[in-house]
Amino acid sequence: MTADRRSSQWYAGTDRNAYIHRAWMRRGLPSHAFDGRPHIAIANTASDLTPCNSHLDEVAESVKQGIWEAGGVPMNLPVVSLGETLVRPTAMLWRNMAAMATEEMLRANPIDGVVLLGGCDKTIPSLLMAAASVDLPAVVLPGGPMLTGTFRGVPLGCGTDVWRLSEEVRAGTLSEQAFLRSESSMIRSRGHCNTMGTASTMACVAEALGTTVPGLAGTPAPDSRLLEGAHETGRLAVELVERDLRPSALLTRGSFLNAIVALAAVGGSTNAVVHLLAIAGRLGVELSLDDFDRTGAGVPLLVDLQPAGRHLMEDFHRAGGLLAALREVRDLLDPDALTVTGRPLADHLDEARIWDETVIRPRDQPLQEAAGIAVLYGDLAPSGAVIKPAAASPELMRHRGRALVFDSIEDMHARIDDPDLDVDASSVLVLRGCGPKGYPGMPEVANLPLPAKLLERGVRDMVRICDGRMSGTAYGTVVLHVAPEAAAGGPLGLVRTGDPIVLDVEARRLDLDIPPEDLARRQPSEAMREAFAAPSRGWERLYVDHVMQANRGADLDFLVGSSGDAVARESH
Ligand code: FES
Repeated sequence: MTADRRSSQWYAGTDRNAYIHRAWMRRGLPSHAFDGRPHIAIANTASDLTPCNSHLDEVAESVKQGIWEAGGVPMNLPVVSLGETLVRPTAMLWRNMAAMATEEMLRANPIDGVVLLGGCDKTIPSLLMAAASVDLPAVVLPGGPMLTGTFRGVPLGCGTDVWRLSEEVRAGTLSEQAFLRSESSMIRSRGHCNTMGTASTMACVAEALGTTVPGLAGTPAPDSRLLEGAHETGRLAVELVERDLRPSALLTRGSFLNAIVALAAVGGSTNAVVHLLAIAGRLGVELSLDDFDRTGAGVPLLVDLQPAGRHLMEDFHRAGGLLAALREVRDLLDPDALTVTGRPLADHLDEARIWDETVIRPRDQPLQEAAGIAVLYGDLAPSGAVIKPAAASPELMRHRGRALVFDSIEDMHARIDDPDLDVDASSVLVLRGCGPKGYPGMPEVANLPLPAKLLERGVRDMVRICDGRMSGTAYGTVVLHVAPEAAAGGPLGLVRTGDPIVLDVEARRLDLDIPPEDLARRQPSEAMREAFAAPSRGWERLYVDHVMQANRGADLDFLVGSSGDAVARESH
């Protein structure tokens, strides 16, 4: 019996409490399951309502085998699951709730370590936030992307091609019938979105942080190598407990900077910015929005994946995956940042190779020289805003145009296709009221649709500015995560239709070109304020009262930091 094992606080001893804990858990488990060996939770986000994660129960079976084999005891722990396409109003509203619930259930139960089994966009971030705050040894197991579907002989990037095809319908170049026929081709297999959207990005980011079995991120969900990796993940979780390697020791500032390098090299989703800031906040690791710009600035874009590029995750895996891409930028990585194997990430790059240079470019033939996320400041974004240059139009990176302002998503939907809308291709579309507090939950609406009358004229991109987020599968010249948001009193709430807005990505500026004294005299419009969320009770009320701005990771203020794994009291 290992008396100092956390789970032994429940199971060890001859008193009535230990009896109760063991007796209720036996149900076929042998006595030696309670002899002090590590009890490993599989924080499992499998759910029929999270279709990207619906295969995770099978994956969990392989994890269990690995845990048993390494001398541990597996415990399946279903946790809050968030299906990106279904959950309303937006899955991001529930990320912090999922993290809080998982953290509390890990702390409340006799658990020594945890496998974090996620996939769909918010699941891996919420699991990592939870593990960081409870600070138990943890290994991430990404559920993997789906295989590539095709429609009329052309590969379909799920998510990205929904945007593209629906714009084609609005532009009148694709029939509605053909559009609907593509529906059954979009999702070819189990797994999450197969573009470099948020789910794929967060799997890569988790690997670059050092929290997965190296080389596993991006393994397609139906690939049997995922189950092999799941087995290995289970084994590793037991070893981590034996070595007492916890997130607070594993995840350093260097780990986060490595994740930022990976994010840039793969052309990952802007959503990773808010998630990484939130995870770092849980650990007390110093990380700011500026780190994304500074560290990402010198990183070349090496991976040619949708939404910015051509290929899909199956191609990326076949071409060598994340480790092959990271090998090219090895000199930019922190050589000391560890992984769950106990060895630095850099050590795992030796064997990696690029097998298809059309998918993963060698360092000397990048798709772009500098792929990082640019952080903008200015009159409109005193606390920062971000833009992903890799997904933007080069000719719009320096732009001056008249604002066309929408006070809410509903306002935008009501007017965007109005033939009388006073707009041209040089206009700057502003959508506000979509930040963490305003909507609430910071929905993925920043890539608002272009006005139909401009689409018909062949316009395919315009500058758009929003205090919300953008889907990782979307693209365009979109300035997002504007902070402070309009609902928190940010100057975005003072912009009026017709105001000249100046975007200069190279200078990292986003400004309103009106005299400062005019801006100082303005008051937020009544129509805009009425559109802000004002929940009276429940989680939404708690969220709106406590959510921080995007530049702080949109976490709740009282969830920042760690409470550790100690349980205060015993009730029986
Ligand atoms: Fe789940 Fe895209 S909808 S990953």
